[in-house]
Amino acid sequence: MNYNKKTVKDIDVKGKKVLLRCDFNVPMAKDGSGVITDDKRIRAALPTIQYLLAEGAAVIACSHMGKPQPSFDKWVQKQTEKGKDPATLTEAKWQKSLAELTLAPVAVRLSELLGQEVALAADVAGPDAQAKAAALQPGQIMLLENTRFEKGETKNDPKLAKAMADMAEIYVSDAFGAVHRAHASTAGVAEYLPAVSGFLIQKELDFIGGALANPKRPLVAILGGSKVSSKIGVINNLLEIADTIIIGGGMAYTFSAAKGGKIGNSLFEADWQDYANEMVEKAAAKGVKLLLPIDTVCGDKFAPDANTLTVEAGNIPDGWEGLDIGPKTIELYCNAVKDAGTVIWNGPMGVFEFAAFAAGTEAVAEALSKTDAITIIGGGDSAAAVQQLGYADKMTHISTGGGASLEFMEGKELPGVACLLDA
Ligand code: 3PG
Repeated sequence: MNYNKKTVKDIDVKGKKVLLRCDFNVPMAKDGSGVITDDKRIRAALPTIQYLLAEGAAVIACSHMGKPQPSFDKWVQKQTEKGKDPATLTEAKWQKSLAELTLAPVAVRLSELLGQEVALAADVAGPDAQAKAAALQPGQIMLLENTRFEKGETKNDPKLAKAMADMAEIYVSDAFGAVHRAHASTAGVAEYLPAVSGFLIQKELDFIGGALANPKRPLVAILGGSKVSSKIGVINNLLEIADTIIIGGGMAYTFSAAKGGKIGNSLFEADWQDYANEMVEKAAAKGVKLLLPIDTVCGDKFAPDANTLTVEAGNIPDGWEGLDIGPKTIELYCNAVKDAGTVIWNGPMGVFEFAAFAAGTEAVAEALSKTDAITIIGGGDSAAAVQQLGYADKMTHISTGGGASLEFMEGKELPGVACLLDA
């Protein structure tokens, strides 16, 4: 994939209406109060927004939020699949579920951060959006409602894409977190407008793309998280690129079981044992160092107050489950990143949300904070871990995209990037 894309700096935006796709899919308080619990993604979009406004563009910002069901029947189907009693699923409840995913709190936060009004349209490309967009002046910004309130968004419906594009003259994408989605607002609109990237996408492409295409060596990839099955693409791709691959987190137990180890009640994907063994063999054949845990901190239950026990890897007694890497593994893994040129980290080493099982993830974060290597943290859990443990400002780059950074590391084409003009 070509990562060398035109940016806002390569196009004249003065006096132009710019449709700006952001990823304002921010976490909200669970009580439906509309309180944004982390505004990092809004802040991450500010450099592009401020640049566009200062250059005299009129900015029509848009984003998705959550996974609303724009049709009542589909909502009922999804809720029923989740085990809800269909008799309790009323139209009013569906409307409430949509109302909770309005971008209104984002408009308020964005206007606070920018120090200027951000009007929220009542729809995505309907009469209110069109009227507000038509009246928008250079230096002003408005926000469209949640793009996923439109059925056509996730289907990449050309009608919706065209209706959105018709309000503007230029399309700028800065929604790195959503570039792995081929949706109307992330890719479809680029069929109708000159399409360039904002500064956030450019930064993500430079760091992650640079680390994958031309890394400062040795390149060490640290892969954790619960499932082997969700990391297959990344392991496959990184086996072609990395010098060392470090495996931690829940997925390590499938590797351990595949070698005949005892894993007690640990997370385990029986169907992926052969794959795990193949990966070990493939790494050896390619001369890639593949490091697996040599000891494990176990708990007698999956809870913060579990009793703990440290054992050799592959020796987890019945009734116990592996919840973190052990001290010998910490030493091994931290040594492996010491002289790295580049480290890519995706997925925690253990259940860092529980203090008793956070040591592995914390030690790796600390080791990364001390190395001279370029350190790149994938979005999602690893980014949350680095932030929660207080090492965020010590990393070279923390991605704003969870699924997007994962698919990027898998070497997949990202539709939201592929649709932008080549530089
Ligand atoms: C994210 O949170 O990873 C992005 O906003 C994409 O969201 P999605 O997984 O709902 O498409």
